[in-house]
Parts: sequence; C-alpha cells; structure tokens
Amino acid sequence: MRYNKLGHTDIDVSVICLGTMTWGEQNSEAEGHAQMDLALERGVNFWDTAELYAIPPRAETYGRTEEIIGTWFAKTGRRSEVILASKVAGRATRLPYMRPHLHDGETRLDRQSILEACDASLKRLQTDYIDVYQLHWPERETTAFDVVNYNHNPERDGFPIEESLRALEELVKAGKVRYVGVSNESAWGVMEFLRLAETAGLPRIVSVQNPYNLLKREYEYGLAEVSCRTGAGLLAYSPLAMGTLSGKYLDGARPDRARLSLFGQYFPRYQSDRAVATIRKYVETARRHGLDPAQMANTFVNTRQFTTSNIIGATTLDQLNAAIDTGDMTLSDAVLADIETIHKETPIGY
Ligand SMILES: NC(=O)c1ccc[n+]([C@@H]2O[C@H](COP(=O)([O-])OP(=O)(O)OC[C@H]3O[C@@H](n4cnc5c(N)ncnc54)[C@H](OP(=O)(O)O)[C@@H]3O)[C@@H](O)[C@H]2O)c1
Repeated sequence: MRYNKLGHTDIDVSVICLGTMTWGEQNSEAEGHAQMDLALERGVNFWDTAELYAIPPRAETYGRTEEIIGTWFAKTGRRSEVILASKVAGRATRLPYMRPHLHDGETRLDRQSILEACDASLKRLQTDYIDVYQLHWPERETTAFDVVNYNHNPERDGFPIEESLRALEELVKAGKVRYVGVSNESAWGVMEFLRLAETAGLPRIVSVQNPYNLLKREYEYGLAEVSCRTGAGLLAYSPLAMGTLSGKYLDGARPDRARLSLFGQYFPRYQSDRAVATIRKYVETARRHGLDPAQMANTFVNTRQFTTSNIIGATTLDQLNAAIDTGDMTLSDAVLADIETIHKETPIGY
C-alpha cells in the first residue's frame, strides 16, 4: 500500500481510502464491520463518511453509516488507528429531516448548522474528534453534481465562505475537528478557501473531495494544477463511475443487487449511450492488456500526480480486496497511451 501526505499535515494516508456510503442501505452493519476489519488489516488507514449517508439519502437511513462506524469503534477500540473524514451537508431543499434548524426549508452552511451537524456526527460515530471535516457541497450555485453550464448568480451566494470557515475554526479550536476540507468544489472555491486561510488566519483546507474517474476528468481542467501547487490534493470519489467501469452493466445487463440495478433512476450519471460506448472501449482496453477493468480504472486514479487518496466503494469483500490490491499497482506506458487515445476521442465520457 502506498501512502501520501494529507495536504500540509504530517499525516500519511493510504492511497486507497475506504468509502462507506453503502453501509446502512446496500450493506448491513455486520458487512460494514467486516469491511473495516479487512481494510485496516490491509493498511487502509483512511476512511470517508458523511452525515448524509446511507445512499441514496432518505429520512429512515439518515446517519446510519456513521452509526455503523461508531459501533465498530466501540466494539474494537481502534479509533486511533484510523484517519476519519466526514462531511456536513451543503445547501439543499430535499433534506429537511437532517436539521433542527432549517432556513426556508433548506439545509445550509451557516455557523449554527455546521456546529450542530458536527456534534450530531460525533455522537453517532462514538468518538470525540473527526480528523478531516469537509463541507459536502458548496452553499453557492456552482457546477457541482454534473451541472454543465456555469450560471453566475451572486444573489444565491448565501452564507459567505468565511462564515463556514470560521465555524470550522471553532470546531478545530474545540478539539472536535483536526483538519478541514471541501468537496464538490470549483477551482475558484478552493482558491478562496486558501486565500482566507492566509489573509484571515483561518484553517487551511487539506483536501478537495471531487468526482474523478476515466469517464469524468474535469478535475484536470483547473483543479489538478491547484492541487499540485497548493498541496490541497484530490480525494477522488466514484473512481469506478459507480461500478460501470467494471463493465458489468454492458449490453443492458443488470446484475442482482448492484447499485444501478437497485437505484438506477436515482443515478442517471454514467448511463448515457455515450457513456456506455466509452466504457466498452476502456473495458476492452483493460482486457487486451490482461487487466481487470475495475483495477485498471482504480489504478489510473491512484497514480495521478494530484491524487492524495482514492475513495473506493465496495459492497463485497472480494470487491474490497480487488480495490485494495491496486494500492500497489501501476499502469504501463502502453496502457496509459491507450487510455489517452480513448480520452481524446471522448473528453467528457459520461
Ligand atoms: N463527496 C461526494 O459528494 C461523494 C459522492 C459519491 C461518493 N463519495 C464517497 O466515495 C465513496 C466511493 O464512491 P462510489 O461508491 O461511487 O465509488 P465507485 O468506485 O465508483 O463505485 C463503487 C461501487 O462499484 C461496485 N464495484 C466495486 N468494485 C467492483 C468490482 N470489482 N466489480 C464490479 N463492481 C464493483 C460496487 O457497487 P455494486 O456492488 O452495487 O455494483 C461499489 O459499491 C463513497 O462511499 C463515499 O465515501 C462522495
């Protein structure tokens, strides 16, 4: 397993980060516990969760994933061996069950909401600190979550970034949070967080958790350079494009119990005709080189210069083992050249 420094800290995190969002919906508590046992045994010391999970989000399972991590900490006493990341949900109308205090029915990133959310997460997690506390998505309108066209709408900026960052600073000062990070952020947003850290003496973000995989490489347009030059590296999510890059959905297949078979309507991403055609090319390329397509996809993400850690997802221990194996793998120049050929044909592949 390779390890990278987390932002400007002296913490070494495994290049494979354990994603958790299926626990409490697709996976049971016992399955989540078995994944944590295996991950830690195999050197995966970095785990990612969120108050929002399990996924897809619904009132009945809200906070369930954090509870499952909490019962594992209580059972094993191994909290200190893990670098744990969690997230506070951003602005949304569809999650009214998440907060005692809403603003016109919306969850928001104001001071009170952030402080309340963190306390609730700590309770569910049965711990008194979170290593990396992230803003799950921005307060303002951006191109997060597949919005293709940027719409400049300052009237909807909402609570300023500085208010959110000052709330995070309070949590750091209280010892409830060690470091802070952002998620689903733009290049401007990341630079603004870093600017405020320098000019106002606020906590410096250590990471940027955004989608990144063979089909979705927008991170490289602006954020990759930001990560390399500032040290706020990528925590890549959905490295298999929700499992599609394994090839298992090709030709209309809908395997039993797989995410898109169960919740395909909730996740239209990666299911367009263009996506399927591009996935087929990557799958054929992997097989031609004698590689497992999912492992090729994960290794590609692991080995980018701007990647700090790759947040993988697994619903079985076999999938988890296969993903962890890629923590030591590299891709040959011939494989990388073939990947670039496909990418140039379809720069936006989803
Ligand atoms: N910040 C954010 O907004 C955000 C958004 C999404 C995710 N995340 C984080 O990133 C983590 C990973 O995201 P993700 O689950 O979307 O990652 P992903 O790697 O794109 O998809 C993982 C899913 O692919 C399937 N899979 C995994 N290995 C496979 C294999 N070898 N062969 C076939 N199928 C395989 C499994 O689902 P099935 O068995 O159901 O097919 C697994 O749950 C999450 O748990 C969460 O921590 C963050």
